[in-house]
Amino acid sequence: MAENRIAIFASGTGSNFKNIIEKSSDGFIPATIALLITDNYTAGAIEIAKNLNIPVKVFSKKDFLNREELNVQLLNTLKDMRIGYIVLAGYLKLIGANIVKAYSNKILNIHPALLPAFGGKGMYGSNVHAAVYQQGVKVSGATVHLVNEIYDAGSIVLQKAISIENLTSPEEIAKNVLKIEHEIYPIAIKLLVENRLRVVGKRVEIVGEDSN
Ligand code: GRF
Repeated sequence: MAENRIAIFASGTGSNFKNIIEKSSDGFIPATIALLITDNYTAGAIEIAKNLNIPVKVFSKKDFLNREELNVQLLNTLKDMRIGYIVLAGYLKLIGANIVKAYSNKILNIHPALLPAFGGKGMYGSNVHAAVYQQGVKVSGATVHLVNEIYDAGSIVLQKAISIENLTSPEEIAKNVLKIEHEIYPIAIKLLVENRLRVVGKRVEIVGEDSN
């Protein structure tokens, strides 16, 4: 059985990272946030981790011969630190096939739109909200999904939609979607570590009883 030790991968500000730590500290997520992995020496998430004594490892491509070498070392670190689950929180790099294989159905990502729309390579951060705004869709939201080798293509675990009809800029959409992210991501992580997700074909079914 996987240990209830989570590594969070983050490239940026880290508001989801901070929120997940809080939900682990208060017992809502029955797991330890044991490690922060980042590709970015200046990620805001590093500061958050350091203040809370959470170990940080930077895996930046420039420190390695190539991406394959980076992925080998990264997987070694995860194993050494007895990581059972990986949670991507604003991590901008594709997860290596070796890691996806070793952590099959144990990696989650959150995407700031309703997949499968507005996803895929290049669709991250403000690009997503700009595309959503320009398209003129009336709802947006957040999607938590399992991670496979293709950007934003894994099975969907949870989604929540909000009306954006009255919002007047991509920034305003981003702000409102982020609130939803902070709401649904801890729920999905809790379901994952409680082993309550069953993958049936492309679908994810939620099984068992809520423990809280
Ligand atoms: C979030 O919008 C998340 O959906 C996306 O990257 C952003 C990260 O924000 N994958 P933060 O660093 O957690 O504040």
